[in-house]
Amino acid sequence: MIKKNGTVYRLNTPNTTLVLQADTAQILYYGARLPAGDSFAAVAPLGRCFFSAPGTDDYTEYSVLLEYADGSFASRFAFTRAKVYAEKPELPDLPASYGEGKTLELRYTDAAEKVSLYILCTVFEDSDVIAVSARVANNSRKPLRVRRLMSAQFDFAGTGYEIVTFNGTWGRERHKTERRIGRGIFVNDSKRGASSHERNPFLLLKGTETYGFNLVYSGNHKEIVECNEAGRTRVLAGINDFMFDWTLPAGESFCAPEAVVCCAPDEDALSARMHAFVAEHIVRGKWKRRERPVLFNNWEGTYFDFDAEKIEAMAREAAALGAELFVLDDGWFGHRNDDTSSLGDWADNEEKTGGGLAALAERVRAQGLAFGVWMEPEMISEDSDLYRAHPNFAMKIPGREPFRWRNQLMLNLADERVQNFVVRAVSDVISRSGAAYVKWDYNRGMTDCWGKGVAGGEYFHRYMLGLYRVLRRVQKRFPAVLFEGCASGGGRFDLGMLCFFPQIWTSDDTDARERIAIQAGTSYAYPQSTMGAHVSACPNHQTGNGNPLSARFNVACGGVLGYELDPCALSAAEKGEIAEQIAFYKENRKLLQFGQQYRLEGENAAGYITVAKDRSAAVAAVNALSFSPAEPPVTVRLKGLDPAAVYEVRVRGKETAFTATGALLMSAEIALPLPDAVQAMRENSGGLRSVMLLLKRVRA
Ligand code: GLA
Repeated sequence: MIKKNGTVYRLNTPNTTLVLQADTAQILYYGARLPAGDSFAAVAPLGRCFFSAPGTDDYTEYSVLLEYADGSFASRFAFTRAKVYAEKPELPDLPASYGEGKTLELRYTDAAEKVSLYILCTVFEDSDVIAVSARVANNSRKPLRVRRLMSAQFDFAGTGYEIVTFNGTWGRERHKTERRIGRGIFVNDSKRGASSHERNPFLLLKGTETYGFNLVYSGNHKEIVECNEAGRTRVLAGINDFMFDWTLPAGESFCAPEAVVCCAPDEDALSARMHAFVAEHIVRGKWKRRERPVLFNNWEGTYFDFDAEKIEAMAREAAALGAELFVLDDGWFGHRNDDTSSLGDWADNEEKTGGGLAALAERVRAQGLAFGVWMEPEMISEDSDLYRAHPNFAMKIPGREPFRWRNQLMLNLADERVQNFVVRAVSDVISRSGAAYVKWDYNRGMTDCWGKGVAGGEYFHRYMLGLYRVLRRVQKRFPAVLFEGCASGGGRFDLGMLCFFPQIWTSDDTDARERIAIQAGTSYAYPQSTMGAHVSACPNHQTGNGNPLSARFNVACGGVLGYELDPCALSAAEKGEIAEQIAFYKENRKLLQFGQQYRLEGENAAGYITVAKDRSAAVAAVNALSFSPAEPPVTVRLKGLDPAAVYEVRVRGKETAFTATGALLMSAEIALPLPDAVQAMRENSGGLRSVMLLLKRVRA
């Protein structure tokens, strides 16, 4: 809801209030919902702004940096107009949140330069999220250069905040990282051309309230937190200004991607709001709110070494175990038997596919499974027919040896001809195979950023605009196909990608113990229906660790369940266990994929609980971080239950149950020994000790 009082605008969601003073561009309040009636006169002098530019006595990091034709940088934006849209306007060329949400547009103009700055705020009441974006319009007769345009600026009073980011690298994505900076500047960014394994764009600022910031963008991003000399903390989020320099011709506009902002009393509440927002206003199309299939993927089962008989045999076994989708991973095209060739040649390897992809897809479908296929559409191998025919399709700088990464180059998606090629290539693979699912991979960072006719400072962003154009066209043609994003695991896990891909492969590290922190970190911003999570073979291929099959399953149920191993190599006992796991998962899939998930952290324990929307049932995975006679007991406090209700609690696979109120389960540290839990953990010898707790409401 947006309410106006003079030039003061109140943006209310059911649980939060943001108050903006339009004429002075100040944030008067952002926090828990306030009752009507305040005039905000007392807080006005704090001078907390929602945009900034050089040219005043504010020397804190700017949200807007424009270089004018005469070489000057100073801007003086004065308020000119406010407008409220009943429907959210689209952002040109960029993915963005969608759905019901009133939008406030504030316009500021620099009269001397004839340039306008638009700040847009959309209020999503159902999730307490506010989407913010910024646009610069050059109404003068001369070009100007956009050197920085942040999507959102939020100033907070005080400097004692804790900053939380989600950091890692390949195989170790999104580990929660906390720090305080006192006075100074903190930067969280990516310069890799993708949102990155290293630094996800999601950032938390924790004080009395917890604030979350994220970006609907998949390229270079930058989040700055500056605690300044005046005792204010400024948060900026937007496109990285690293190697960014955008010429804005007279009469044109530049639109920054959308940022999303949320305020909540604590991390759990913030995650719940972000989850609701992503599920409702980011994920779209056929797979929104739709249960996702249980898949088998052949990658860790075969790597590049397979033929049609092998794939058919794997599919037959997978179908017998209850899987619904078989995904043929890398290696089915060109002469790709390792990672040195054929990217860009999406022609069937007749030998490995037994007469073509369509024929192999039919053989998979004959087993009663849907067929899915892997592609890496943004890439090109130098050893490919595509490269031999169109070397200039590759992203490289003339006269300079390109940097090779995983033996491959990238395609220059800033070029429309290359975009057309990718759309054709992907469309053709889907059409000829009848694929119901595509794993869209992206396995290197950008280095030799150059395209004919594209200014260097515009390259990164023009690449992203090109990619988004491609994705829009492909999705329009194949609205029923389920796309899973991937970038060497979770190197591009962001809201921009989730506008196109309802789920993303969370990490190439499939070790259940490692996955606990990766999935927990990811869950701060993203719901479990977006996180691909697979049970893989033992010992684990990335770490060499062994974990019991039940523990691998318990952890994978925290995301969208799949299996990534050779089912033909399983023992009869393992097959029996997996068949039973899949049956359980299907029975509880709605809850596991679309219930509310909370992180569980206890003495010596970590895991999650996923609670049905009506709180009538829940599934929790509790993992002991270490397990020895001298360790403190594994204790955990459950979350999200109905405090007044009585729940029956049972360890999966065991018969006995006990009952307790939701209040007790959430307030006391429940120690395992619960009945059966320690016994179950002992039985899980050799690796991660894990139990799954099943909760059923027996009395409201
Ligand atoms: C990346 C992905 C893997 C797999 C391989 C195939 O590493 O993250 O899941 O698809 O590529 O080459």
